Amino acid sequence: MCGIVGFSGHHQAAPILLEGLSKLEYRGYDSAGLAVRDKDRMAEVVKSNGRLKVLAEMTDNGNALKGTTGIGHTRWATHGAPSKINAHPHVSGNCTNSGSGTVESEVVGVHNGIIENYQELKEKLIKKSYQFYSQTDTEVAVKLVDYYYKKYGIGPIDAIAKAMVRIRGSYALELMFQEYPDEIWVARKESPMIIGIANGESFIASDVPAILKHTRDVYYIDNLEFACVKPGEVHFYNLNGDEVKKETVRITWDAEAAEKGGFEHFMMKEIHEQPKAVKETLASVLKNGKIDLSSVGLSEEEIKKFSGITIVACGSAWHVGMVAQYVFEDLAGIPVRVELASEYRYRKPIFYENELVIVISQSGETADSLAALRLANENNVETLAIVNVVGSSIAREAKKVFYTLAGPEISVATTKAYSAQLICCYALATEFARIRQKIDAKYYKYLIEELESIPEKIDIIIKDKERIQWFASKQTNARDVFYIGRGIDYAIGLEGSLKLKEISYIHCEAYAAGELKHGTISLIEEGTLVIGILTQRSLYEKTLSNMLEVKSRGAYLASVTTYGNYNIEDTTNFNVYIPNIDEHFSASLAVIPLQLMGYYISLGKGLDVDKPRNLAKSVTVE
Ligand code: AGP
Repeated sequence: MCGIVGFSGHHQAAPILLEGLSKLEYRGYDSAGLAVRDKDRMAEVVKSNGRLKVLAEMTDNGNALKGTTGIGHTRWATHGAPSKINAHPHVSGNCTNSGSGTVESEVVGVHNGIIENYQELKEKLIKKSYQFYSQTDTEVAVKLVDYYYKKYGIGPIDAIAKAMVRIRGSYALELMFQEYPDEIWVARKESPMIIGIANGESFIASDVPAILKHTRDVYYIDNLEFACVKPGEVHFYNLNGDEVKKETVRITWDAEAAEKGGFEHFMMKEIHEQPKAVKETLASVLKNGKIDLSSVGLSEEEIKKFSGITIVACGSAWHVGMVAQYVFEDLAGIPVRVELASEYRYRKPIFYENELVIVISQSGETADSLAALRLANENNVETLAIVNVVGSSIAREAKKVFYTLAGPEISVATTKAYSAQLICCYALATEFARIRQKIDAKYYKYLIEELESIPEKIDIIIKDKERIQWFASKQTNARDVFYIGRGIDYAIGLEGSLKLKEISYIHCEAYAAGELKHGTISLIEEGTLVIGILTQRSLYEKTLSNMLEVKSRGAYLASVTTYGNYNIEDTTNFNVYIPNIDEHFSASLAVIPLQLMGYYISLGKGLDVDKPRNLAKSVTVE
């Protein structure tokens, strides 16, 4: 989704803003813009359609824009097509056709989120003689602040507070007022925003990587709060205009973790970081060979009392939930339902006594997952978040948090966060099984050893990546691909198919193998690639039969299965073998070849692996 940066200090702002925006490119965007000013000069706005490098070229890498205070934005279109005129910043006064140039306006601003009542506000402002040049909801917000600012004439605090009360929807807003030269005003509802201070200068961003180079001590602005950011200084306010005191939070990610480190793409780097992400996440709850959930805040009494679990998430995090359902139910004997957050939040789910709601999210900012969490909190059930980003909204609002220690994930296609989320679920399920007396001490010890073996086994699979590259290079022209499997293997296929779709733009579906005959098999044509996933011993023969059924209708077959199942070669054209592991945990291994397939096919097609079209890393609007 959109990215926001801001700077107020002693250095020239534009190069710092451009560099910050480049760190947010992974979030997905279609246009970009900057507004920069000095004490005695009005803000100059420059916008471009397309990639950030166009904006960099237009401004000579920022050097052509003079000023030590500025705001920047990468836009992912919601209201109004991607275009220069719709790109941010927007201004309160009239402007040229392109929206660029020196600004005679009182207010200039950028915005992430969606203003739901923008139409109604726009009509009101048109009646007050405001003219609009873009189709965006952002321009409405900027003009609304300007309207209150002029109407009441008592400064930004009052104007912003009044606009915040009037606006419905979500926003992270960054505003500059002509009469307040070195100040940037920010306001927040739902959309994330952080502010960092270092060496007498201030940095604003919608996401950590944009300011990591400058500081690791950041303030999180809360919902319905706003702030005035000056060089080296920030003051927070609530909606009444009262000042709010805040402490900084230390970000432990290092800046290097957000760089490519010699890999061609972040996705490949992050695939290679999976053993580390899994190991560190597991180590955070493993003490002397036992799982210790005290850092998560779960006591043995609570674990005994839960009558069921609901897992809510979006995209790949939902796929983790689908795997976890099998693992929790089979190991811990506890009923689990898995819900898409976008559905759950609107369908009046029935809450029950002693229910545990687990929300899984890498970013901790996914709008639907956050809304689902709030719904669960309002209904007084226990909530636990599995989250990667410390201090994110979901992490702060969940009653209990289990952090994945994956470090910053930049590629839009998740890999290491998915793997770290799986480990959290396995650790929870294993401990639930022990405490609820579903497994004995010997099996518990064995499961822990199996968990500890995952990082090394992932490494073994990654080392064999060239074979997958060879196979993938032949699939770049595929039109339809199907992943089939049963049980956990079906859940693994869901993730594999999303990886292929999102970065290679090939139509790919995952099917529960037993479902094929109920309709989907009619899609199989001569040469259609069908990849069977067979890691569950008891389901091996069943899935193999389904593979034979599609083969006899022309399918070209491949498989991902475990060492030893070599008889599969009688049926298939290409196979990837993964190390043996307790079957509950096979998703952690079987997903690796599927991630590599997605990566190499995307690469083979010459696509932008890390920044696939139309997608955003963190979906902060519903
Ligand atoms: C997967 O590769 C995705 N890009 C996407 O499905 C993602 O998992 C989903 O948007 C949820 O994001 P979150 O984990 O940040 O909540």
